[in-house]
Amino acid sequence: MTETIEWNNLGFGFIPTDYNVRCTYADGKWGELRTHSDMQINLNIAAAVLHYAQESFEGLKAFRGKDGKVRIFRVDENAKRMQDSCKGIEMPILPVDTFREAVLQAVKLNERFIPPYGSSASLYIRPVLFATTPLVGVKPAVDYEFIVFVSPVGPYFKGGFQATPFMLSRKYDRAAPLGTGMLKVGGNYAAGMKATVTAHDNGYSSMFYLDPKEKKYIDECGAANFFAIKGNTYVTPQSSSILPSITNRSLSELAESLGMTVERRPIAIDELSEFDEAGACGTAAVISPIARIDDVDNNKSYIFSPDGSPGRVCTLLYNKLRAIQRGEEPDTFGWTMEVTL
Ligand code: PLP
Ligand code: COI
Repeated sequence: MTETIEWNNLGFGFIPTDYNVRCTYADGKWGELRTHSDMQINLNIAAAVLHYAQESFEGLKAFRGKDGKVRIFRVDENAKRMQDSCKGIEMPILPVDTFREAVLQAVKLNERFIPPYGSSASLYIRPVLFATTPLVGVKPAVDYEFIVFVSPVGPYFKGGFQATPFMLSRKYDRAAPLGTGMLKVGGNYAAGMKATVTAHDNGYSSMFYLDPKEKKYIDECGAANFFAIKGNTYVTPQSSSILPSITNRSLSELAESLGMTVERRPIAIDELSEFDEAGACGTAAVISPIARIDDVDNNKSYIFSPDGSPGRVCTLLYNKLRAIQRGEEPDTFGWTMEVTL
């Protein structure tokens, strides 16, 4: 099977792998981790997740390094963010240790699917936690399932590390709860589906959201945070309705370590015309440079890369991040966890 995977031609999609790791919450407590080779789940037709989307998911990656070692990037940060999402939608908190152990087991058990060093692919890890209690009334479930599966993936946006166009329209909102920070819960993504399809149908990589309240400040791109480079400054939005991206936080620290100034503040849309470079960042997106943002409501374009080539600072940050993830440079930040295979 792995012999037939063309690692360098992989897009971002689901490829079945050998095992997944599960843990059940019942009677007020989490059980032991279990390994499954079956990819199906047996779910009651009234399971709360199906009706009220009581569900959270995460996304992180494992990389095969130059030294042959396998490294997982910032797993504890994803575990903590899932805890925040669980708090936000009244699901039980999964201990960080259980999350980390399940991720480790899923990676080890599927070692043959970890793309080789030197390819553009990596192993995407998808933890998901959802409500299984049969319910028709709107209230929190009492039974939950946590599952970690993995899939080898390539670049999220077509073209990989090439600048692509993004669409901006005030007609689209995501259901981000104002004032709480966007939770990584399925319902928020379902609410953004129409915007995503509209952007793709019009030839864009993604929809670009403004703040839902005033439609004045930049929020984020569909499934990635926004950042821009202005001179020697890394600028990224401060907003209560975006997902706190672990990649964005890592890039901010990298930028600081390179002597850049980091500004996290509200960014009014007009400031787009002052940026030298712009990018979308996330686990799946890594850094996806933005060629231009078309404000389709006002027939106005903000152009960052007329020929699609990534900017100098985007390239520098991209190479640094990749080098740490793949063990080419020492991880002085303590971001990676080595997997003993
Ligand atoms: N914003 C949204 C809406 C996302 O879905 C993601 C991906 O998880 C991100 C931002 C980037 O977050 P991270 O860097 O933690 O993957
Ligand atoms: C990620 O970057 O891990 C995401 O969750 C983005 C998307 C696939 C939902």
